[in-house]
Amino acid sequence: MIHPGRLRTEYLSDPLGVETPAPRLSWWLEADADGKAQSAYEIEVSSQGSKSPDLWASGRVESPRQAHIEYTGRALQSRQACLWRVRVWDEGGQVSEWSAPARWEMGLLEPSDWHGRWVRHVGATPGRPSLFRRAFKARGGLARARLYATAHGIYVAHVNGTRVSDAALRPGWTDYPTRTQYQVYDVTSLVAEGENVLAAVVADGWFSGHVAMVGRDVYGKRPALLAQLELTFEDGTTQVIASGSGMCAAHGAWLSGDLLMGETIDARLADVAWMRPGFDDSAWSKARIRTSPAPALTAEVNEPVRPIEEVAAVAAFPSTTGDATVFDMGVNLVGRVRLRVQGPAGTEVTLRHAEILDAEGALYTENLRTAKQTDTYILAGQQEGETFEPSFTFHGFRYVEVQGLGASLPSDACTGVVLSSAFPITGGFECSEAMLNTLQANIVRGMRGNFVDIPTDCPQRDERAGWMGDAQIFVRTATANAAVAPFFTKWLRDVVEACGPAGFRDVSPMPINFKTPGAPGWGDAGVIVPWTVYRVYGDTRVLEAVYPEMKRWVDGKAEANPDMLWREARGNDYGDWLAVGEEASKEVIASAYLAHSLDLTSQAARVLGQACESEHYRDLFERARAAFRAAYTGPAGLLEPSQTTCALALCFGLLEPEQRELVMSQLVARVDAAGGHLSSGFLGVEHLLWALDLGGRLDIAHDLLVKRTFPSWGYSIDHGATTIWERWDGWTEEGGFQDPSMNSFNHYSLGAVGAWMYGRLLGLDLDAEVPGFAKASICPRPGAEITWARGWQETMAGRYEVAWRIRGDIFELDLQVPVNAIAEVQLPHNGIPATVRSGRHHFETAWVAPR
Ligand code: BGC
Repeated sequence: MIHPGRLRTEYLSDPLGVETPAPRLSWWLEADADGKAQSAYEIEVSSQGSKSPDLWASGRVESPRQAHIEYTGRALQSRQACLWRVRVWDEGGQVSEWSAPARWEMGLLEPSDWHGRWVRHVGATPGRPSLFRRAFKARGGLARARLYATAHGIYVAHVNGTRVSDAALRPGWTDYPTRTQYQVYDVTSLVAEGENVLAAVVADGWFSGHVAMVGRDVYGKRPALLAQLELTFEDGTTQVIASGSGMCAAHGAWLSGDLLMGETIDARLADVAWMRPGFDDSAWSKARIRTSPAPALTAEVNEPVRPIEEVAAVAAFPSTTGDATVFDMGVNLVGRVRLRVQGPAGTEVTLRHAEILDAEGALYTENLRTAKQTDTYILAGQQEGETFEPSFTFHGFRYVEVQGLGASLPSDACTGVVLSSAFPITGGFECSEAMLNTLQANIVRGMRGNFVDIPTDCPQRDERAGWMGDAQIFVRTATANAAVAPFFTKWLRDVVEACGPAGFRDVSPMPINFKTPGAPGWGDAGVIVPWTVYRVYGDTRVLEAVYPEMKRWVDGKAEANPDMLWREARGNDYGDWLAVGEEASKEVIASAYLAHSLDLTSQAARVLGQACESEHYRDLFERARAAFRAAYTGPAGLLEPSQTTCALALCFGLLEPEQRELVMSQLVARVDAAGGHLSSGFLGVEHLLWALDLGGRLDIAHDLLVKRTFPSWGYSIDHGATTIWERWDGWTEEGGFQDPSMNSFNHYSLGAVGAWMYGRLLGLDLDAEVPGFAKASICPRPGAEITWARGWQETMAGRYEVAWRIRGDIFELDLQVPVNAIAEVQLPHNGIPATVRSGRHHFETAWVAPR
């Protein structure tokens, strides 16, 4: 017997604001015995209140599929609430009970659904957040209330003084004039009979605040709000309260609120009465309707940024200047603090945030460049004390220096509130080598801190931009740790919208002055990221959405480089960014990436049923491979070998079989030449260990992974890293800090080794052919005296668990395969792979310690 559960619509649990006409439905399966599989399913979808499946009855469909079943029922209308359930048949034809129902609700599908107008606060002080309010009367008998809202800027909405959601930094970052995401809130329980107030605070955010290194007002000079509250009563009548001329605006306690610079609150001005009924707003100004063209509005498809964790300060100590308290949060986190303070009204408290301390023990802030990440709180002077927590900024920090209240605040006065896009963590890894467990934790922390609505390079300096190269290097590791399909679905729209005449760029969304065409390994993210999302989640829609731009990208490069070596049009050509001690040829890297993107475009075409185009790009790939070999290889292998070019040539399949061994020995020689260390930068680091493994030098891969001397992951950990550093030499014993103009201590790129830790060290990996983990490859590769590893991943197909240990001369593996899935198991030193079905499995084989 099998049973469906954990129903998901467009990846999410009971989402509001779905816009696709054919939402994709997925479920997991439970079974009472091993080896069970699904042979058929039946789905029913009914509209709210209907007893029958009036929207869609799929009938029995003979299929093992349990992910991304497209709704093909009656056309769905704006706001439509849909309830769905599924039942399944097992391999023996036994049918399950119906699942518990799940639901989704459609968003506003037509521009004419929007009655709200974009409003601004005229006369607002630039940089100062504005309050908007609108009072309204509601009658009794309310059945449901939905708030549809967004902003140019960032907003927090309230109904009758209650915040409608704990989500932060909404609506997130898109290239706003092109497209702005809106959010949908169920506020049924907040609306009362009689007087009500719809309120919002709107700050500059990415729209008109400081963005990256390009200054303020990137998308517009003044933030604006769009909101529409829809009340539906039991008798079927509706009432709409929308932003427009009926709204009024004012300033409140916020004196500033900027993502990079920080936030200032004068608590003496704080009064929540304005959000509630009965407040006299006659002195407020009328909100002005913005007349500039409205952007396309699309519902949020990704999980919003939220506070995902609270971190207690581990210590508090006097600053080096003696007049302030420094709090140590124990880890380098992204978010802000909640500070409990007490003092006379008007006391000004300043909070400076830094990732690290300098040699004297003072906050090291040079690496922030022009970002200030400084908050100021002016006390109201409440007898019982008061709490400061900003809303419209975020910082990357481990240390907070609080000035204005003396040098001896207690450590429990300060709590770190961690912000991140709130996707669930769906993978875990640990092993007998403690340093690697720290590395794993640092990778996840770095991902959390840099996945803030978009994948950013770093969270602290005046940059925090959607650098494409970083994202493509890390995407596979991200998918191993978290359910990031919605996150990347949203960002890939930004990527497509940011495309210029030459296609993908280096950065998406694209703040205005990054108008260069994409560089090798950066622009290629537009090919690699959707391909990876397809492979991991079985998502063909994301491929379909980006495919035209994938083609444009590779076509453009092929046109500019008829000999298929990427010599022309390399944009900013960053090469193997931040490599140490070895400069890989930029041209070789570029040509390798061109071939790889052609290969993936050809594969994407095949998946999308475009056989001719697939063939065409396959031919171009073959030409690019041949050109690569003709131009860059000789009798000894690669002409100018570096770790990175060797790794790319091996991993991208650019070599003839007989050349692989040569290039492999060159790679080994390059590691030797670096004293047994890695030297790769961003582009090489993702592939280095895979290449060594592919070429049979697992021993070296392990050795690099567990290394503690410079440069290595272990070196930064031994020097206090709690996130992944931007550079191998961010801080060294010999040189101290690297150049402060580019030295972040929270950049996830070099954490791209995480995919290898899952895929090989633990041995839980994608199957080479089957997408979406309906089949997994279990291929543990112990080494470096690691005696056990265990981990798990929750996939579209269900949860896999892998645990292995070495007991003397026996290698043992325990494996859990989800219902309906299969796994191919390849034990170490054991030639014949075994294919197993769902359930728990135990394997043992003789273990020979590596030399
Ligand atoms: C960013 C990187 C990015 C790079 C391009 C840097 O400033 O922080 O992570 O990929 O520029 O080379």
